Amino acid sequence: MRTMNITLILGARPQIVKSAPLIHLASQDYQMSLSIIHTGQHYDFEMTKIFFQELCLPDPMANLNVGSGTHAWQTAKIMTRLEKILQKQKPDLVVVPGDTNSTIAGALTAAKLHIPVAHIEAGARSYDMRMPEEINRRLTDHCSTLLFTPTENCTKNLLKEGIAKEKIHQTGDTMYDLLIQQLPKAEKTQILEKLGLKPKTYALLTTHRPENVDNPKNLKNIIKAIIKLNKLTIVFPAHPRTQKQLRKFRLLKAIQKQNHIKIIKPLGYHETIKLIKNATLVITDSGGMQKEAFWLKTPCITLRENTEWPETVEAEANYLVGTCEQKFIKKAYEILENGKEIAKKLEKTPNPFGNGDASKKVLEAIKFFLNRSYQKAP
Ligand code: UD1
Repeated sequence: MRTMNITLILGARPQIVKSAPLIHLASQDYQMSLSIIHTGQHYDFEMTKIFFQELCLPDPMANLNVGSGTHAWQTAKIMTRLEKILQKQKPDLVVVPGDTNSTIAGALTAAKLHIPVAHIEAGARSYDMRMPEEINRRLTDHCSTLLFTPTENCTKNLLKEGIAKEKIHQTGDTMYDLLIQQLPKAEKTQILEKLGLKPKTYALLTTHRPENVDNPKNLKNIIKAIIKLNKLTIVFPAHPRTQKQLRKFRLLKAIQKQNHIKIIKPLGYHETIKLIKNATLVITDSGGMQKEAFWLKTPCITLRENTEWPETVEAEANYLVGTCEQKFIKKAYEILENGKEIAKKLEKTPNPFGNGDASKKVLEAIKFFLNRSYQKAP
């Protein structure tokens, strides 16, 4: 039986989370030979290596070490370095997860070498082309051969764009698989004790989107709002981009002066999950955390005007407030006042993101596709 050689390309924090359960399954499959190429888009320990360690993932076979830069520079650098490896390696298929610059660079490079591309988390749309991720996910979907969608809404988005239905596989969300698998380990972390927190007495805040943190007005609005929200402790693990911008716009000291705000370095997967589960409220602009809050039944305020996860908004688990200080504070107090009723309602909300077996379905579809293509080959 022929070995299936697949290459997974990742480089940014959320891509490791989206791929982890597939890496575990492929590593146990005797028909598969999986190699991981890390682009080096993220390089700090807390942004990448910690996830490999916590999730027991094998080391990448190569790191392209691209580092940070402008979009075109970073994407181009990944492409030129990746092309050389893929030309030598000649994998049967390339897998790209998510919507980062590493995703689009990986998909484009492989597609131009006529290597089939499989996209994990296909079909998500915010319909906001000012977001780099929206450009990345649309273009990736349109050069992919296998598109793995987390929800029915994502499938519909692809069909609307004219993508052939034979290419689309609605598998569920691989991030949900990981959450179910890793929750027991997350529960065991001591992050609440380390931070001196009691369950359901704090809000967890993350913000790193360029439209929020690179824009001084929006970042100031967010900071003003969390300073006013002093009835709650606010835990704020700050992304390196955010830390840099807080210093640049001279906002860091104002935060550090507040007794109710704990600004800390970015956390790994398990501690983040434990914090989300025990929070009264999640405040975020991250796509992944909107979903994790939904699955863990914690209400979420999203610091954006739109979302690629409308399923969570329709379920009234997630509220879009943009960066309007008044809207943010009003919604936060509404959630605090109605916490018990909201929790009861969230307990009964159905999950449109699958059953926790998305990665298994992804692997099965890849194997079916490759077996068929080997049979067709001369
Ligand atoms: C990227 C993704 C975003 C994802 C996020 C998760 C794109 C376009 N964006 O955004 O979709 O939600 O990752 O974190 O791909 N930096 C460090 N150390 C690191 C990495 C970054 O200090 O290890 C700093 C650098 O100053 C860098 C900045 O963070 O310029 C932004 O990093 P970059 O990878 O360009 O974008 P993210 O904001 O992390």
